Amino acid sequence: MILITGGAGQLATEFQRFFKKNSIDFLAPNRLELDITDFDKVRDYILKNDVGLVINCAAYNLVDKAEEEKDSAYMINAYAVENLAKICRERKIEFVTYSTDFVFDGNKGNEYIEEDEINPISVYGRSKALGERLALEENRKTFIFRVSWVFGEEGKNFIEQVKTWANTRESIKIATDQISSPTSTKDIVEITWKILNLRDRDYGIYHLSGSEETSRYEQGKYILERLGYKGNILEGRCLDFTSYDIRPKYSKLSSRKIENILRIKIPNWRSRVDEYLKVGKTYLVTGGAGFIGANFVKYMLEKHNDIKLVVLDKLTYAGNLGTIREELKDSRVSFVKGDICNRELVENIFMQHDIDYVVNFAAESHVDRSIENPQIFLETNILGTQNLMEVAKTFWT
Ligand SMILES: NC(=O)c1ccc[n+]([C@@H]2O[C@H](COP(=O)([O-])OP(=O)(O)OC[C@H]3O[C@@H](n4cnc5c(N)ncnc54)[C@H](OP(=O)(O)O)[C@@H]3O)[C@@H](O)[C@H]2O)c1
Repeated sequence: MILITGGAGQLATEFQRFFKKNSIDFLAPNRLELDITDFDKVRDYILKNDVGLVINCAAYNLVDKAEEEKDSAYMINAYAVENLAKICRERKIEFVTYSTDFVFDGNKGNEYIEEDEINPISVYGRSKALGERLALEENRKTFIFRVSWVFGEEGKNFIEQVKTWANTRESIKIATDQISSPTSTKDIVEITWKILNLRDRDYGIYHLSGSEETSRYEQGKYILERLGYKGNILEGRCLDFTSYDIRPKYSKLSSRKIENILRIKIPNWRSRVDEYLKVGKTYLVTGGAGFIGANFVKYMLEKHNDIKLVVLDKLTYAGNLGTIREELKDSRVSFVKGDICNRELVENIFMQHDIDYVVNFAAESHVDRSIENPQIFLETNILGTQNLMEVAKTFWT
């Protein structure tokens, strides 16, 4: 059994998605269910559940607040990590935990490699650095992945902050004097898993960050442009947002070691941000030739330049291709004639078009006909909908 601690966090959530998709058993208690600072409870939990691998995603991440809540930061980021590593050693199992680019002072002026000397300039950075050292001392079978500017779905992260600003502010100031690289939880999870599955495992520290460095300003500007923000984007400094001067100015991590071992290239952060923002997403619109469906198709094409639509319609009595004649000439639209109950057809559409969303307008809707032929209503309205959901579940989890 795999234990993922800090189960409600953004990295932990990504791990759960990945394990579910790959049918791998795991437990992912949140902070209330398993507080990693409750040393005895953690030990009991690991023993009781016969845990064979611990992936520690729990952390104290509030960089500014840590300056005032030093004890909490050290307890969670250092001593609880030490305890986890120790229990793993006693059970002779591997321990995975995550650290940060903030263990460096930011003065190198060049990408940081694993051998570079650390010199954290914040309580947060020092607590994570101590966690690294204690974990490595406690358990030889420890993997530490240093990551930077993490973002994952459902997370509290910089992209979400920028999205909130975009919705509420006419001008937005972002710091130009902090440089590193945004890193997607998807890449962290996939790469962690690849490293864990190598035959010859080399324990210790790995740097894992998105390709290409950027400033917060450049990253924010990129996100705002993708969101179609029309306000002013202003250059600021870190100290415009906080009174603590505790963030390294330059902390890009070099992922060369991991890339060489796995013979991969970590994706550029921009492509991952696009994915996160769901730019260029593909919608399957069923019943798209019907009255509401056709209007939805027109609306989406008018409002969103960067989408693709796959219109699936059986074209019986309610659907009429004439209603979307003009839209079908648009290169963003593909049309498929067929039934939502047809599993093979729906699966092929998902496979060919890499569907991100399904908007289901396909329905038997003429009440009079339900008296004459109730069977077809059950098939389309119930089984057809279930079919769409089943296929989506297979492709998305
Ligand atoms: N986020 C970043 O930009 C970033 C940058 C560099 C490194 N990292 C590192 O990457 C790893 C994953 O970060 P993340 O972005 O997934 O963080 P996250 O979303 O903040 O998740 C951390 C989780 O840990 C939980 N937690 C805190 N104290 C706990 C405790 N005592 N016991 C159990 N759970 C506890 C938190 O719960 P509550 O919310 O209830 O407190 C939260 O759900 C962490 O090691 C982090 O330090 C993150």
